[in-house]
Amino acid sequence: MQVEQVLRMNKGAGDTSYAMNSTVQNTIISVSKAATEEAIVKTLCSNCVDSMGIADLGCSSGPNTLLVISDILATVGATTRHLGRPCPEIRVYLNDLFTNDFNNIFASLPGFYRKLRQGGASKMGPCFIFGVPGSFYGPLFPANSLHFVHSSSSLHWLSQVPAGLEEEGRAVNKGKIYISEGSPRSVLEAYSRQFHNDFSAFLKSRSREMVTGGRMVLSLIGRDSSDPTTPHSCYQWELLAQALMSLASQGLIQEERVDSFDVPYYAPCMQELKSALEKEGSFVMEREEAREIDWDGGGLTGAASRGERVARTVRAVVESMLESQFGTHVMDRLFQAYARLVDRHLSHTSAKYINLTVSLVKQA
Ligand SMILES: C[S@@+](CC[C@H](N)C(=O)[O-])C[C@H]1O[C@@H](n2cnc3c(N)ncnc32)[C@H](O)[C@@H]1O
Repeated sequence: MQVEQVLRMNKGAGDTSYAMNSTVQNTIISVSKAATEEAIVKTLCSNCVDSMGIADLGCSSGPNTLLVISDILATVGATTRHLGRPCPEIRVYLNDLFTNDFNNIFASLPGFYRKLRQGGASKMGPCFIFGVPGSFYGPLFPANSLHFVHSSSSLHWLSQVPAGLEEEGRAVNKGKIYISEGSPRSVLEAYSRQFHNDFSAFLKSRSREMVTGGRMVLSLIGRDSSDPTTPHSCYQWELLAQALMSLASQGLIQEERVDSFDVPYYAPCMQELKSALEKEGSFVMEREEAREIDWDGGGLTGAASRGERVARTVRAVVESMLESQFGTHVMDRLFQAYARLVDRHLSHTSAKYINLTVSLVKQA
């Protein structure tokens, strides 16, 4: 499965859209804000630039996209004022896969520019915003054009479902859709290898595109244990697999379609990030953090149960992928079943994602 063809956050601003169901990712942006600010300050202190290239990779659409950019612009403005320098011209590149809802972002730009002006943008240099469709696992920008790269809640998506999840044409991860407690060793290794290859390709492309002394702040879902089968790193998929199997037992989907489906996702541990970084060699880590994030983002509670809220956040992200494997007609039932399973799970345990944030500096 090529991720570029099937991974697409739910469009628009309706009930099941990503825009209306991205509180988890919003929380992750907030908890990594200090790392972002620190990296921008350090970048500006060590590089005197009159045109600054900034990229957000895996920007999606909805409120989070421009929230990240306004935070970054505010930090650039405050830092240059503090340093007594004129604010550079700023080039902002918003990247995501080809099928991302870029129109939604572009339509919200007039309001964004208006707010910038009201917030004192006249004291800032000119700001130009560009959309850059394509995979961040390959080249996206001209050489030496970027000073700061940000990516949040995106790098846990692999470029493809790992090779090696089939033996002699038969699925080896039956009844599961990701690494699970009972998964064969070969499944764990296939996922880890795919992540290593993808993350190395990501670093290699950014290494060419970034100036020496430029910084990257990357936040992604990971794990705090070397064991990839711990509940923190995979239980949300375990429950989704159970929901799919319950539809299969009712004859609504075929069990073989579940057996042959695996998500192009991997939650790495910090050591796996470090080992890819060391091997690629262009970046040095300046800061690392691991934080627990509630499955529902810890936002305001409303009439919906926690299970329903979690199901909505997961649906907004993975529905396009599941539709292409199981059909649109079962999606409502699937996520109702999932919400019930999540509610049951949360009634006896406090489930968390682990968000890893790393800040990297490009070497000469
Ligand atoms: C959960 S969204 C996060 C969006 C946003 N950064 C936020 O924090 O709300 C993940 C985004 O990563 C994008 N993505 C996944 N793989 C990608 C790739 N190889 N290249 C570019 N974007 C990718 C997806 O299309 C999706 O929009």
